[in-house]
Amino acid sequence: MLPIEPPRAFPMKRDHRWNWRRSATSPKFEGLDVAVVGGTGGIGRALARHMAARGAKVTVVGQTFRDAGTPGIAFLQADLSLMREARRAAAALPAERLDLVIFTTGIFAAPERQQTAEGLERDMAVSYLNRLVMLDELAPRLGGQRTGASARPRVFSVGFPGSGQAGTLGNLNAERSYQAMAVHMNTVAGNEMLVLDAARRYPHVRFFGLNPGLIKTSIRDNFLGKGSLRSRVTETLIGWFTPTAEAYAGRIAPLLLAPDLEAHSGALFNRKGEPIVPSPGLTDAHIREFMAESEALIARTGIQPATA
Ligand SMILES: NC(=O)c1ccc[n+]([C@@H]2O[C@H](COP(=O)([O-])OP(=O)(O)OC[C@H]3O[C@@H](n4cnc5c(N)ncnc54)[C@H](OP(=O)(O)O)[C@@H]3O)[C@@H](O)[C@H]2O)c1
Repeated sequence: MLPIEPPRAFPMKRDHRWNWRRSATSPKFEGLDVAVVGGTGGIGRALARHMAARGAKVTVVGQTFRDAGTPGIAFLQADLSLMREARRAAAALPAERLDLVIFTTGIFAAPERQQTAEGLERDMAVSYLNRLVMLDELAPRLGGQRTGASARPRVFSVGFPGSGQAGTLGNLNAERSYQAMAVHMNTVAGNEMLVLDAARRYPHVRFFGLNPGLIKTSIRDNFLGKGSLRSRVTETLIGWFTPTAEAYAGRIAPLLLAPDLEAHSGALFNRKGEPIVPSPGLTDAHIREFMAESEALIARTGIQPATA
């Protein structure tokens, strides 16, 4: 079976306790300051372009800028496989003015273990740990200089929440054993826990998790081999049966600004933008332990929490 989506340990469940109302008019992005971390490609790029076309001032963080000359989009270059780069990029963002931050950076674990120059397993570093480092730097500053805003600043983390992954403690850097899917599932679990944890940790900000479902992008290149036959066949099949990144961006854009989200920090949403329930097993104690092990791993690179 091709690794096109996480094994379903748990059928994703709608959260029927609440829903948000779509506004009758299109969402107003004019005058908003937005950062899309991972906004140089795939889903992040589609979201950045959608918002910029509607008047937002968007900074995209990534390695390769593909939107030079597009009005409303500025670029901050960073290799987010490195925690020191994540810290630098976050410090360079004008967090105090930002209305929205969206995290979409990611890869898929390679068939053989890859390690960054800082000694971290590469998928963990790119898809999950840099978000922790960036949040730690950004979250305390978020919204500090916004005036007249009707909502708190919002952070959306794109991953695969609600899919039943609780993560496996004790080998987060995959040094004792390595299996690509198991490693990637730790990034999936980590990203879901990051939202649940941050919602409690930073009450002046609103945090949300987005599960886009399958979308044809470059996310599987590192596993399938960029440009390989396997990759082309997989992405073509995904493209036949699933929405494009642009269609997903258009569908989810109203959610980003919906007033009803204000009272639901920590909420997670499926590919249609409907609320879903968190994965089982994500107890407070488990989240604390997972976060502590993640932070200990980051500390090995010499990056200490900014808030310590
Ligand atoms: N597509 C799907 O089917 C799917 C399904 C479920 C969840 N998701 C999640 O959605 C999110 C976005 O994925 P996507 O499909 O949009 O992937 P994508 O098309 O591969 O885009 C990934 C983004 O991450 C950036 N990136 C990768 N390595 C980086 C590095 N070392 N430093 C800085 N930036 C780096 C890329 O920028 P550069 O090109 O500039 O390096 C690109 O902007 C991920 O969290 C993914 O897990 C995707």
